[in-house]
Amino acid sequence: MTAQSCVCRKSRLRHEETLSPLPRPGSYRMTGIVSVGRYKNVFGLDIGGSGIKGAPVDTETGELLQERVRIKTPQPATPEAIVRTAVEVVSEAGWQGPVGCGFPAVVKDGVLQTAANVDKAAIGFDLRAALHEELATQVSVVNDADAAGLAEMRWGAGKDHDGVVLMLTLGTGIGTALFIGGRLVPNTELGHIEVRGKDAEHRASDTARKRDDLNWKRYAGRLDEYLHRIENLLWPDLIIVGGGISKKSEKYFPHLTNRTEVVRAEMQNNAGIAGAALAGIPDRAAVKTAE
Ligand code: BGC
Repeated sequence: MTAQSCVCRKSRLRHEETLSPLPRPGSYRMTGIVSVGRYKNVFGLDIGGSGIKGAPVDTETGELLQERVRIKTPQPATPEAIVRTAVEVVSEAGWQGPVGCGFPAVVKDGVLQTAANVDKAAIGFDLRAALHEELATQVSVVNDADAAGLAEMRWGAGKDHDGVVLMLTLGTGIGTALFIGGRLVPNTELGHIEVRGKDAEHRASDTARKRDDLNWKRYAGRLDEYLHRIENLLWPDLIIVGGGISKKSEKYFPHLTNRTEVVRAEMQNNAGIAGAALAGIPDRAAVKTAE
């Protein structure tokens, strides 16, 4: 790398002052605003069961400003070990500035409330405070599916969608993010509704597909049953399917029989990081939720 390109890279990493005008009071729709406050570049961190990934994100465009850093999730995945690894991801990227983080649990005011697929010690852990202490910067923490949903609503398959939109992430578990008129209803845990006496994610997640060695048609049957349950409860206008398995949507979408329009996520791997960054914009006005 030349000295000059090195300088450029570094300057891109610095959080920039935004030139965008402040939003009008009340214009807090998730799909409508991004550049609020002084920063437009935020580091997005996506904490998952197998990897912790992160990259600086331009929150106006959703673009990752450099290649993402990925480090394996430590085992056992105690909250302290996760924090250490997350800090490593941020420092390996050379980032200093605000951080937004997605985590696979219910998150209230930065504190983890549940632990369906992570170490149970996570419950009650103040992840925001721990990351803030280690990184000495402003940190926000949101549910991982909410983060992915925020990105899809802003830049992806839900862009400009005004109705009731449900984003599903099919992975180790089933994550859900619910939007009404572009606003997020945070921490919906609809992957845990009961289907045939079991937690839905136990039957219809990607992990369940692999565990039970299901072919695509049989997997589609399980997903279909889940989608019917969900749509009878919520009557959404659009369902966005994300998670790694959404890349193969052509294998199981044709078997779905539910009434709601189902589309695949557009941001693929980057939704979790980009959405976490959106949630991390200082002033938090970019993520006005439907309180
Ligand atoms: C958790 C959710 C999470 C989802 C996807 C579920 O088991 O309860 O909080 O969003 O997995 O990671």
